[in-house]
Amino acid sequence: MDVEKRIHELRLLLQKHAHLYYDLADPLISDGEYDLLFLELLRLEEEHPTLVTLDSPTQRPGGAPLDKFEQVVHRLPMLSLKNAFSADDLIKFENDLLLFLKPNITLDALSYMAEPKVDGLAVELIYDQGRLRQGSTRGDGSTGEDITAQLKTISSIPHKLRDHSIPRLEVRGEVFLDRNAFIKINHELMQRGEPVFANPRNAAAGSLRQLNPTITAKRSLKFIAYGIADPIQTPCSSQQELLAWLGSLGLPISELTHFCPSITDVITRFEQLAALRHTLAYEIDGMVVKIDDLNLQQRLGNKTMAPRWAIACKFPPLQATTRLISVAFQVGRTGAVTPVALLEPVEVGGVTVSRATLHNRDDFERKDLRIGDIVLVQRAGDVIPEVVKTIIEKRDGQEQPLTTVAMPIHCPVCGHALLKAAGEAVTRCVNPHCPAQRLRSLVHFSSKAGLDIEGLGKKSMEQLFNLQLVRDIPDIFALTHEQLASLEGWGDKSADKVLAAIQAAKHPALGKFLGALGIRFVGEVTAALLEQTFESLGQLMHASLETLLEIEGIGEQAAGSIIDYFSDPDVRAMFDRLQQAGVTPEAGQQSQTDMPLSGQIILFTGTLTTLSRTEAKKLVKDNGGQIAVTVTQNMTHLVAGDKAGSKLKKAKELGKIILTEQEFLQMIQHEPRTASQQTVVKQ
Ligand code: IVH
Repeated sequence: MDVEKRIHELRLLLQKHAHLYYDLADPLISDGEYDLLFLELLRLEEEHPTLVTLDSPTQRPGGAPLDKFEQVVHRLPMLSLKNAFSADDLIKFENDLLLFLKPNITLDALSYMAEPKVDGLAVELIYDQGRLRQGSTRGDGSTGEDITAQLKTISSIPHKLRDHSIPRLEVRGEVFLDRNAFIKINHELMQRGEPVFANPRNAAAGSLRQLNPTITAKRSLKFIAYGIADPIQTPCSSQQELLAWLGSLGLPISELTHFCPSITDVITRFEQLAALRHTLAYEIDGMVVKIDDLNLQQRLGNKTMAPRWAIACKFPPLQATTRLISVAFQVGRTGAVTPVALLEPVEVGGVTVSRATLHNRDDFERKDLRIGDIVLVQRAGDVIPEVVKTIIEKRDGQEQPLTTVAMPIHCPVCGHALLKAAGEAVTRCVNPHCPAQRLRSLVHFSSKAGLDIEGLGKKSMEQLFNLQLVRDIPDIFALTHEQLASLEGWGDKSADKVLAAIQAAKHPALGKFLGALGIRFVGEVTAALLEQTFESLGQLMHASLETLLEIEGIGEQAAGSIIDYFSDPDVRAMFDRLQQAGVTPEAGQQSQTDMPLSGQIILFTGTLTTLSRTEAKKLVKDNGGQIAVTVTQNMTHLVAGDKAGSKLKKAKELGKIILTEQEFLQMIQHEPRTASQQTVVKQ
């Protein structure tokens, strides 16, 4: 018989039976019969290696182990979601949507899809002409890791879509483990004397990031699709249709998605899902709410890190009770001295908790904790566990008041006097040279939240700090092979690896770099805003307070802190050393050159009539332009709405182009809305 024909036949048969077994749970043949077909195909392919194709069922659990994961830049970033914790937050979400879209939308035009928020790992699958070509992790949102071979071992991920005519589809979804598979993995690890995973999410991440995909193949991972990178490019007009369309292509979608005609229905659905949660075979940590209409999604667009058109409603935090053994004090990155409760280890939602934050002195005194008390601890998502309250009814009179461990007046690490600023609840060690603060800052700098220097985790950094090999950030970039290779627990290989990671960290994105520095009040979001506004680190260093305050989303505290930071001579000296070491943060991508507003820097002033301010700014960015924060020589256009004042005057003096709102819209050929679309907001 023609071998090629038989191979083709076997592949079709195996695909059909895998579909019946995995997707429809309705097998027609026994596992033994399936295995026989599989072995026959495997044998034929071994005898005729030229006939092996990447999408053959035999290639699923295989692929050669990799040395490292390659990086993948997502064509469109994989964003995260803003959180809502209450019904009020959801109502605010809707009001913000109306505000953004006003005056062209009515309240009843807003309907939603509510989807379970499966607790796993976000991945992207790229299908070219219906064939799975590449799969990657979310990573930092813009760059992830290539885990194609690992993802191909997941049986619910189709290697081929049912429609081959789609040139390219970038599917987004979640890889997860159900509870039973998680228990099984941990059981096996325990039997081999290896460390176990704390929860299904970590286990899923650990299983996917295996360089050897045969290990991934054994882990029973699952996948569900919840969207695509660019939904507007599909034949669908709503999220509901999009999900059904993905399903029709052969991608698994959740059976728990729910259409909600109004925000009230969303709130009701959330309560239903919260009640259902414990009956599911896998963990969900909340519900994702998305505007159903894809055109509205497109109009709303994205904020810095998350889309405007979606929000994650988180389930209430997980709680447990345990005994308080004692209280210690720790010094944080910003010098904040915080009391920590040392607890009898207790499991809270799959994680063992033995330390929990008590926040600050006020909090700690208000809670009237006593040693020996039974206390309620909670954790929500990835945040540090906290002590909520003491359970007074459980006291038996043996408990010891905490007077003996009252708030210290000197830093427990450097001995410097502590300071509590008026109006602030936090007590701080104000010694800028306090070793605890320096170490914490260094750990943050190289951590995932910072520059993510692989191999320079908390432990290694502590070791380097204690040996005085790294005392400040520039020291990291001066480390040598000899210094590292001879350290306890290191060696040539780990030294090379860490040095390569340090080398790779020399040209970080400006926002990432600013976040890594740990400037007070400059978190991830503020850092991203600064990256969007400034063209270089130098430009930011010389920015005035006034310029910083002009940036939407940056308040007085952050602006003041940035100014203080960059005017510190020690900080300036540190930047000089970093520059000498070749560390050059790179500002955001410059705008494309073939768009209507490429190279244009636009400022809005006064009241606009058809666009909200946020929508106007989004249009500038979508069309390749930049937003000016104030009237400067660099600015090219001023769009003046009603009651424009001093900015208009100044722009005229500088001879800048002044536009009306309509002229601005014409410039980007934005369709003016017709009268029938101009409906009034119902409130
Ligand atoms: S939409 C731009 N839908 O939640 C839209 N995300 O912070 C972003 N997630 O890690 C994602 N279920 O992987 C969306 N039905 C769902 C989801 C979902 C789980 C995860 C996602 C990401 C996180 C969002």
